[in-house]
Amino acid sequence: MSTVSAETRTRQHYNAARLRSHTWDQLKLAAMDLDEGRGTVEEVRAILKDLSNIELYWAFPGKETVRRLLDMLRGGDHHGFHLAVNHVVRLLSSGAFRSDPAVIADALAGPNELLAEEEEKPKTNYFEVLFVDELDDVEEEALKLKLQKCRDRSDTFVYDTLVVRTVQDALIALLFNHNIQAVVVRFGVPYPSANPDLSRNGGKGVLREFTRAIDALQPGEIGRANMGPYLGRICRWFRPEVDRYYVTDTPVDGLQDSTLKNFKRIFYRTEDLTELHLTILRGTQEKFETPFFTALKEYSRRPMGVFHAMPISRGNSVFKSRWIQDFGEFYGRNLFLAETSATTGGLDSLLQPTGPLKRAQELASRAFGSQRTYFATNGTSTTNKIVVQALVEPGDIVLIDRDCHKSHHYGMVLSGAYPVYLHSYPLTRYSMYGAVPLQHIREQLLALKHGGRLDKVKMLLLTNSTFDGVVYNVERVMEQVLAIKPDIVFLWDEAWWAFARFSYVLRQRTAMHVAQKLARKYRTPEYRTAYAKHIASLKKGEEPRMPDPDKVRIRVYATQSTHKTLTSLRQGSMIHIWDEDFVRKSEAAFNEAYMTHTSTSANYQILASMDVGRRQVEFEGYELVEKAIELGLLLRRTIRENPRLQKWFDIITISDLVPAEYRQSGIEGYYRRDKGWNAIEKAWAEDDFAVDPTKINLYTGKTGIDGDTFKNKFLMDKHQIQINKTSRNSVLFMTNIGTTRGSLAYLTKVLLSIANELEQRNAGFEQKEKEVHIGVLRELKGDDTPLPDFTSFHRSFQGQPGVPGGDLRSAYFLAYKEERCRHVKLHEALSEMKSGGELVSASFVIPYPPGFPVLVPGQVINKEIIDFLIAIDVKEIHGYRPELGLRVFTDAALGRQKTTTAMGGRKQVSSFKAQASSTKKPTRKKK
Ligand SMILES: Cc1ncc(COP(=O)(O)O)c(C=O)c1O
Repeated sequence: MSTVSAETRTRQHYNAARLRSHTWDQLKLAAMDLDEGRGTVEEVRAILKDLSNIELYWAFPGKETVRRLLDMLRGGDHHGFHLAVNHVVRLLSSGAFRSDPAVIADALAGPNELLAEEEEKPKTNYFEVLFVDELDDVEEEALKLKLQKCRDRSDTFVYDTLVVRTVQDALIALLFNHNIQAVVVRFGVPYPSANPDLSRNGGKGVLREFTRAIDALQPGEIGRANMGPYLGRICRWFRPEVDRYYVTDTPVDGLQDSTLKNFKRIFYRTEDLTELHLTILRGTQEKFETPFFTALKEYSRRPMGVFHAMPISRGNSVFKSRWIQDFGEFYGRNLFLAETSATTGGLDSLLQPTGPLKRAQELASRAFGSQRTYFATNGTSTTNKIVVQALVEPGDIVLIDRDCHKSHHYGMVLSGAYPVYLHSYPLTRYSMYGAVPLQHIREQLLALKHGGRLDKVKMLLLTNSTFDGVVYNVERVMEQVLAIKPDIVFLWDEAWWAFARFSYVLRQRTAMHVAQKLARKYRTPEYRTAYAKHIASLKKGEEPRMPDPDKVRIRVYATQSTHKTLTSLRQGSMIHIWDEDFVRKSEAAFNEAYMTHTSTSANYQILASMDVGRRQVEFEGYELVEKAIELGLLLRRTIRENPRLQKWFDIITISDLVPAEYRQSGIEGYYRRDKGWNAIEKAWAEDDFAVDPTKINLYTGKTGIDGDTFKNKFLMDKHQIQINKTSRNSVLFMTNIGTTRGSLAYLTKVLLSIANELEQRNAGFEQKEKEVHIGVLRELKGDDTPLPDFTSFHRSFQGQPGVPGGDLRSAYFLAYKEERCRHVKLHEALSEMKSGGELVSASFVIPYPPGFPVLVPGQVINKEIIDFLIAIDVKEIHGYRPELGLRVFTDAALGRQKTTTAMGGRKQVSSFKAQASSTKKPTRKKK
């Protein structure tokens, strides 16, 4: 018998969906054993018992199928039972049921019957509708039959009905079952579930481990009459993409505003079920709609004469050519048929959308929880510049994480903002930075306040998640920053974080979710009371940590590279906005900035792909993101538990990436062999920083191979595995909505084969090679490698002496004249500095990796930065030419800058006294 105990099964899996499919697989094995005389009826029955509690939350195959299987088992036909189980498992694992109404109607109908109907089968998309109602079994069956009768052969969607009788069961179903696309809630259902599994063994049934996310959701004293609206509200928070309908007897004028807001439509008991059925299908059709993609498809089918500057349009220049036909064949005709710049005839203009593009952006806004959303076709590199330029004027101060993407630094130059560079905590061992501690942000803000510059502070700009997967506690940061500067604008660079919206855990740390949450919270009377109490409790001179509800404004922007984590062609990016002052203060400037950076020849294929990507996440984002998280966690576990891999590779854990002082939960990893996956919700709720489970940093230092070589020579050249980022001694793997279990298995196999190769390499070392190798290992350990912290702006470019902030733009343009600059080689720079020389960078210097500027124009160069540049040994360093060296300002140029400004150049600069002051680094206790 090869089945495993229920407890082991529970511990092995990260979510209930996996537990469920594993339990069905186990049933298949047990049924085979029974059929072939090896197993026992008791074993099979025990698994079926677990399944009967699990299948309560799925319509297909559902509890009725399990009941029928139990009947078959009792009937004693073990062979028939075995075949039936095999059939159900095949339907489940192949996903056939998702497009086949005949299968849904009867999971136990044999394959022959299904084949007989093959000819007539319409292609449909399947989903499940959750009914929350206190029905008995007979009523449940009647409801299902009535709804089945409403079906029409021409329907593009088909759904099955899942009935649960309590609010708690509804929450569990929403948590577990990603097929649910709509929920119909009846007035007055009770809360507690009757599922014995949830209370068995003192609440330790097989499902118990997976319901943690809803454990905190106890409705308290709200009473049965309010359970429906309560469920609507929670569902909106939990699975916002699920359509919500409410069935009640309460007259419309008796319904609360929040109930009307939380449900898409209210039905009355007396109303016809057909109406409900049509509304469910209509709601699904609305999500399915892709206005721009559809318009583009229709446009490309029309016969068209092209007298425009676009020979490639309709493939004319390609398919008629004798020389470039292979290009056409590779991409296919549709790519060229859709190649147009038309803004009429059913299409639309990105620069001034009024038709399908406008609608597509509105749908994206709904899906991503913003007040408004803009599409862009030149990546987040562009959307970052748009947002910065839209919101920041010359001389405004922006608090900005220094190791953010270079587009932000260029945004500072373009807008003339004074950046106050924030320091992320260092992860010296891995030659990486973490993220910016909240305490450091507050210290900088308070320094600006005490320097009389708070009125100039306009924006806080942070990257979430960071490239390496460190994720801020967005709510905590926004609350505490708004407590000091209640009208600050937040720009969260979510280039890597678009997918987070579709996981209930990850969503809590997204800009749009938190903006919406805080906007609501600060308007409540409860918040006012809490705020008054907080202010009364402050000691003299102590700064508040809660924002003043009379002053606070929620102004939040997020930029997302849709193409990095969701379905979108390269360069697809979105700007999501939740800004209470957008129309009053920023809309006009935003439009100007958008015009500045947007092409008049936007690529329609990219725009259409974003439209389709939005449809996808509304239907299957919850499922796919959950799977990406699961696979990320699984990869970590696989590497950590394989002794052959362990010898060469270490997974960089949460405790490696987030120092203990920022992990209030004390949680060091999301998985423990003895406890299973037990901690992600707690860590994500409590900690200053969490780690994106889909980003897996692998330490390669023990192999003696640096990250870059490991990526290019081992993963790419030898095994065609593509990865994105490396550090000196690590590589970063990402799982995403396209990752499969097969690709994970392939990666594991590749790592094992690299491990073998390394074994052989080491076995063949001569004494001398061994010594060299030990030296390399020591170097790659990384503890001594300096990190290039931001130093300070040279006094010529400081905003105000003693107060953080520098005039990046002046330094940038000062370097435009070659005679104001000179070059200095790295080793010469060291000796110049040793003899008291002061070197000031005239350029951005951006090594890849790490991909952020280690020097910006106007920055004072120090020894650590030079040491870092010498040590990193990467080939691609933008702004640095090894044959010439670093580009620095001449002394005369710096002197001239002082004179120019003193003679009435830029006002802000001339009024500042020249005095060196460096940005204070975050105070961090040593481990
Ligand atoms: C944090 C961050 N922001 C912005 C960008 C730029 O995004 P895109 O490639 O979409 O232009 C990147 C690119 O890697 C990034 O890492």
